[in-house]
Amino acid sequence: MSEPPKHLLIVDDEKALREVVAERLSDHGFAVEQAASGEEAIARLADFAFDVLITDLRLPGIDGRQVIDAALGRYPDIVAIVITGYGTVKDAVDAIKQGAADFITKPFQFDALLHVLGSAMEQRRLKSENAYLRSQLQERYRIDGLVGRSAVMRDLFQLLEIVAATSSTVLITGETGTGKELAAKAIHHNSARKSQRFLAINCSAIPETLLEGELFGHVRGAFTGAVATRQGRFEQAHKGTLFLDEVATMSPALQAKLLRVIQEREIERVGDSHTIKIDVRVIAATHSDLARMVAEGTFREDLYYRLNVIPVKLPPLRERRDDIPVLVQHFLQKLSADLGRGPATMSQEGMRRLMAYHWPGNVRQLENVVERSIAFSHGRPHVEVQDLSSEVYSPAPDAPTEPAFPDEGIDFEQYVSNIELSLIKKSLERTKGNKRQAAKLLNLKRTTLIEKLKRLNGGSEADRSHH
Ligand SMILES: Nc1ncnc2c1ncn2[C@@H]1O[C@H](COP(=O)(O)OP(=O)(O)OP(=O)(O)O)[C@@H](O)[C@H]1O
Ligand SMILES: [Mg+2]
Repeated sequence: MSEPPKHLLIVDDEKALREVVAERLSDHGFAVEQAASGEEAIARLADFAFDVLITDLRLPGIDGRQVIDAALGRYPDIVAIVITGYGTVKDAVDAIKQGAADFITKPFQFDALLHVLGSAMEQRRLKSENAYLRSQLQERYRIDGLVGRSAVMRDLFQLLEIVAATSSTVLITGETGTGKELAAKAIHHNSARKSQRFLAINCSAIPETLLEGELFGHVRGAFTGAVATRQGRFEQAHKGTLFLDEVATMSPALQAKLLRVIQEREIERVGDSHTIKIDVRVIAATHSDLARMVAEGTFREDLYYRLNVIPVKLPPLRERRDDIPVLVQHFLQKLSADLGRGPATMSQEGMRRLMAYHWPGNVRQLENVVERSIAFSHGRPHVEVQDLSSEVYSPAPDAPTEPAFPDEGIDFEQYVSNIELSLIKKSLERTKGNKRQAAKLLNLKRTTLIEKLKRLNGGSEADRSHH
C-alpha cells in the first residue's frame, strides 16, 4: 500500500538552490511547494497544513525563526528543518530549542538532506505513535479484572502491559487486599505464556518443612511421608508463571534455594541430585517492606535484587480515592448479577461515605462492604447509606483528624455532618443505644444529641428507636 505524498514547503531566497532541491525532493515523492521569502512562507502556512517545512534561517525581512514560530504555533506536529550557513551552529541549536526537528549546514549534499529529513520524519512518527499508544492505554480503565481510573492505576496498567511482554521476574508489593494476586494474573494473561499454567503458592500457608517439597518436588523416600515421587510447583509451572505469594516469610535456607533456581533456571527434587531445567516466570508478592527486611538482615539482599527486577507497587486504596466509584460500580454489577438481580446503584451519600473511609483492608474490604450493603438493601435497586456496615464510620487510627480532600473540593456541611453522625453512631453502638450514656461519652447534652440525630438522619434514627 503506497502512502499519500508528504507535503513539503521549502523556503529560501536563493532561487537556484531552492529550485534544485525542490525538484529532487519531488523526484523522491514529496509534494513540494516553494516560498522565496519569510512573508510568502507565512502566507502559505496560513492556508495549508504542510507535513514538512525546510527553511533557511537567514532570509531578508521576516527571518527563518519567525517562519518556524508561525509553523509550530499552528501545527505542533509539523516537522521543521532549518538550513544554516557555515559556522552558525549556535543559530541551529537555538532553532532546535525553538522546536525545529533538525538542521543542516550549507553547503550540503542532497543525500545528506534526505537523510536528515528521513530521520526527522521517523522520529515524529514514533513520537505520535507513542502518544497514540499512551492515549489508547489511558482509556483503559481495566486490565483483566483489575479496575481503576486514578492516574496511579492507569500508569500501573501501562506498566503491567509492558512487564507482560517480558519474561522478567516481578516483585509485586502492596498492603493486604490491594490486588497483588489479580495483578500477577493480569501479567500472566497478557504474556506470551498465557496458554500455559499460572500456578500460585502461598509461602506462609505451608509449613516450612513441607514448602521445599511443594516448590521443588521430592523423590520417593526423601523424607517420612514421601511415599511417591512428586513434581513440585516449579516443574508443574514449566513454560508458565509461578506466583510466589508472601515470599517474605521464606526461611533463610529456602531463600538460598530460591535464589539458585532463579539464577540457574534449574531445580533439584528433594532427595535427588539430578537437575531439571525449568522455564518459569516468577512473580513474587509481599505485603512486607522487603527493602527494610534486607536492611535488618532478615531477607537475603541478593534474592531481593533478583526478585525485584521489575517492581510493581499497588498503592493503598486510601491513596487513590478516585478509584472508589468505579470499583463500587464494578462490584455492585458483579455481585448483583451473582444474585440474579438487576444492577444496583449506590446513593451519592453512600458513595461519599465510602470515599471518606480509610480502607485498611483495601479493595478486598470494599468488596465485602459492597456485598453486605446489597444484602441489607433487601432487593432495592438503590443502596442507601444506612445499608452500609458501621465499620465504614470508624476513623483512621493513626490520622483521626485528617480529612480526605479530593481535588474537586468537598461539601463542607455534608462532610462535617458525616463526622458528627459517625461519632454519634459510634457512641450509641458503644452504649447499646442508650442515648443518655452516649451523650455523656460525647460530652453533649442528651437533648442536643437527640436534636442532632434528628437533623442528621432526617428523623429516621429517632423513629427507628421507637420500634
Ligand atoms: N483493582 C481492582 N479491581 C477489581 N477488583 C479488585 C481490584 N483489586 C483487588 N480486587 C479484588 O479484591 C480482592 C483482593 O485482591 P487480591 O487477592 O489480588 O489482593 P492481594 O493484594 O493479593 O491481598 P493479600 O495481600 O491479602 O493476599 C479480590 O477479590 C480481587 O478480585
Ligand atoms: Mg494475595
